[in-house]
Amino acid sequence: MKKLYLRTFGCQMNEYDSARIADLLADAEGLALTARPEEADIILFNTCSVREKAQERVFHDLGRVRLLKKDKPELIIGVGGCVASQEGEAIVKRAPYVDVVFGPQTLHRLPELIAAKRASGRAQVDIRFPEIEKFDHLPPPRVEGVSAFVSIMEGCGKYCTYCVVPYTRGEEFSRPFEDVLVEVADLADQGVQEITLLGQNVNAYRGKRDGKRGDAAETADLAELLEYLADVPGIERLRYTTSHPCEMSARLIEAYGKVPKLVSQLHLPVQSGSDRILAAMKRGYTALEYKSIVRRLRAVRPQLSLTSDFIVGFPGETEADFEATLKLVRDVKFDGAFNFIYSSRPGTPAAELDEQVPRAVQQQRFEALQTLLDAQYRAYSETMVGSTQRVLVTGPAVKDPQELQARTDNNRVVNFAGDATLIGRYIDVTITAALPHSLRGERAAV
Ligand code: SAH
Ligand code: SF4
Ligand code: F3S
Repeated sequence: MKKLYLRTFGCQMNEYDSARIADLLADAEGLALTARPEEADIILFNTCSVREKAQERVFHDLGRVRLLKKDKPELIIGVGGCVASQEGEAIVKRAPYVDVVFGPQTLHRLPELIAAKRASGRAQVDIRFPEIEKFDHLPPPRVEGVSAFVSIMEGCGKYCTYCVVPYTRGEEFSRPFEDVLVEVADLADQGVQEITLLGQNVNAYRGKRDGKRGDAAETADLAELLEYLADVPGIERLRYTTSHPCEMSARLIEAYGKVPKLVSQLHLPVQSGSDRILAAMKRGYTALEYKSIVRRLRAVRPQLSLTSDFIVGFPGETEADFEATLKLVRDVKFDGAFNFIYSSRPGTPAAELDEQVPRAVQQQRFEALQTLLDAQYRAYSETMVGSTQRVLVTGPAVKDPQELQARTDNNRVVNFAGDATLIGRYIDVTITAALPHSLRGERAAV
């Protein structure tokens, strides 16, 4: 049996795409996944270019697999994802042993590209954006377990000044409403209970309807999609990521009051607490507007856990700007975040700005922010002690296999005593203690 080695970098959109690539090549070429590049017939890297480090890793890894071609000249090496999208032909110029280059919107064409390379001997590059065509040409997702991801929109049209995503993944494009409903119903039939809807700005979703239901509106938004999905038999939990504050509509906020299956956890990237920096980033909101969204969300869902993304050391960021970020973190009581040091990306407007913040200052701010967020994460864990949480039992506990491990809405691990028949089910657990990286609990009386 032929083997595929597939390495993924970057966000959940890339993880999702990689799962589709594996399914596609299993269907088209009978390829099975391997964790060892040496035994692979096809080696693919699904890449990320959001920060410089991620991008450079690709060329490092390519250099390593290049040697494998000496013993196996028919080996196919491919590069997909956001670096491919941004660099295109330049990848083949820099690394001539690369056989195929494909973008996030052309991965469904991989079998053709590989065949064309084999027939012609010439490297194949296809990084166009033929809109949502890819979803019509991919096999339906295969699932293991009770959780599944569903990509509902592609691309991004926000053009924040620091970010490459709109250039690498193209404009925002939503999958049709009925297509998403059918995919989720299929997943539920296969035993899936938890769905995570994916998109770069998933709350900007505007899915075209087929009109057969006689609905008044021509498109459905995320709030409406969530209401429909909550009614799909078998679906217990709904999540979505990532969302943009400007798309947090009144209807979507209301959904937290109306749809109990929507988890009490929201990832809502804010990036900075300084209005000056938010404007320079072109985020489209102020710190006060962000706080107002949070206040309205917590009015309908008081226990909501909020996580975020931050960029420190954006060009021109002063000590006062950074203090404003720390203040926002305290005011909102974030329950953790992904923090990044600003990375200048060629071709983005922010790369042209003067006043780059010195590396040492960036590092210092990064650490201060991380320390504050870590402390808030632990404080939030403490507040959970004594509460009863609906958790998904994921398997035996790592430290003590006699015990079980489960995941809360806000992605904490809970260890508790219980029977293995509970694995894969949602149950209620009372939290008894908060440890630095996990919680302890006991099964709540039923
Ligand atoms: N669409 C999402 C996030 C996409 S990228 C949003 O807008 O919220 C994930 C995160 O990477 C961003 O939230 C941001 O914090 C970070 N990021 C993006 N470009 C970056 C850059 N040039 N330097 C450092 N961090 C960056
Ligand atoms: Fe990048 Fe901004 Fe789009 Fe997020 S919203 S992907 S940060 S351009
Ligand atoms: Fe990276 Fe592309 Fe995702 S740049 S973060 S893989 S959209």
